[in-house]
Amino acid sequence: MSENDKPIRRALITGITGQDGSYLADFLLARGYQVHGLIRRSSSFNTGRLEHIYQDPHETDPRLRLHYGDLTDGAGLREIITRVQPDEVYNLGAQSHVRVSFDQPVYTTQVDAVGAIRLLEALRDTGLPARFYQASSSEMFGKVAQTPQRETTPFHPRSPYGCAKLYAYWQTINYRESYGMFACNGILFNHESPRRGETFVTRKITRAATRIAEGLQDTLYLGNLDARRDWGFAGDFVEAMWLMLQQDEPDDYVVATGQSHSVREFLDAAFGRVGLNWQDHVRVDRRYYRPAEVDLLLGDAAKARRKLGWRPRVTFDDLVNMMVDHDWALAREERVVRQARENRP
Ligand code: NAP
Ligand code: GDD
Repeated sequence: MSENDKPIRRALITGITGQDGSYLADFLLARGYQVHGLIRRSSSFNTGRLEHIYQDPHETDPRLRLHYGDLTDGAGLREIITRVQPDEVYNLGAQSHVRVSFDQPVYTTQVDAVGAIRLLEALRDTGLPARFYQASSSEMFGKVAQTPQRETTPFHPRSPYGCAKLYAYWQTINYRESYGMFACNGILFNHESPRRGETFVTRKITRAATRIAEGLQDTLYLGNLDARRDWGFAGDFVEAMWLMLQQDEPDDYVVATGQSHSVREFLDAAFGRVGLNWQDHVRVDRRYYRPAEVDLLLGDAAKARRKLGWRPRVTFDDLVNMMVDHDWALAREERVVRQARENRP
């Protein structure tokens, strides 16, 4: 069979409108997949991260197809899976903000924990041999029992989000062991990008540093500056998701850079890039503290390196610079628009 005769592979991504979903869609489309994504009905546009690839769903044969659905609606998930007949399912949809999960613990559980089992059940019901990826998280290590954290490190989640993710993690293993499903957990450490949500600490910092540099704001309010994270680039990490589903056997993998930095170090790098001293602009606001904190995350991705051949390409400094440069361009545009408005007679 020639390359052209090969059947087109179909992937279904929940959370396609999020940071990772959009990078994964780019990655899969570049590999010739037909990509289907679950999107939530929203009163305003929520497809901004897909704009560069999004085509009108009414056009014939778009490579990207979006379906309205929600992880809280099991019947809808079953219907979409039956219609799409995916070869691979990536469950990236989640209420993904740890601080918010303390305010909305039940909703977070409904989406992140029960949502995963709704999807697994829908898949099992249809009997499709689709491969399944679960977006598990280093937040499950929580109050860490060991550093660096690897696949064998005991879990101790410290948030409703971490607990919900741990439930989904175990159900993924349970469906693999009980029903022979090809189901994998990627235990991903923090990964960021210019497409990162604006309320996560890295993007909050790069937006503020650049807006301060352009005279658009003066102060940045943050919480715990001592927390340490293993920050990588989202574009590198989605490749690991795909690689997990290309193996002969399903398994679980830690995906991380193996380097940890504090929030302070991130501030140094981001404000340094725009020529400012963060100490002149940052104020600590206890509203951004969490009832329980995860102090230190540092991953050991030796298994992913050995078995998947995966390694991160973007360094910490490259990541910060990439995010700052992107947000700086946005801040400059904002300043120009604001000045034009102010100068209008
Ligand atoms: P994100 O930017 O917050 O995206 C979350 C996605 O989930 C969005 O598309 C969102 O849709 C969707 N979603 C939220 N609630 C939903 C629901 N009820 N039904 C269906 N979809 C829903 O998150 P991310 O950074 O891309 O992360 C992707 C996944 O990896 C998440 O599961 C996250 O928990 C996990 N993870 C992330 C990291 C990280 O550092 N980024 C690390 C480990 C694990 P809307 O656009 O409509 O809000
Ligand atoms: N968001 C936020 N906002 N975090 C702050 C702030 C602030 O103003 N100030 C300090 N921090 C600290 C948090 O207390 C935390 O220790 C650290 O910065 C990182 O916070 P986030 O960027 O919100 O990420 P996270 O580590 O809590 O969660 C992210 O990574 C997980 C993987 O470990 C999310 O992407 C999760 O979905 C993901 O599973």
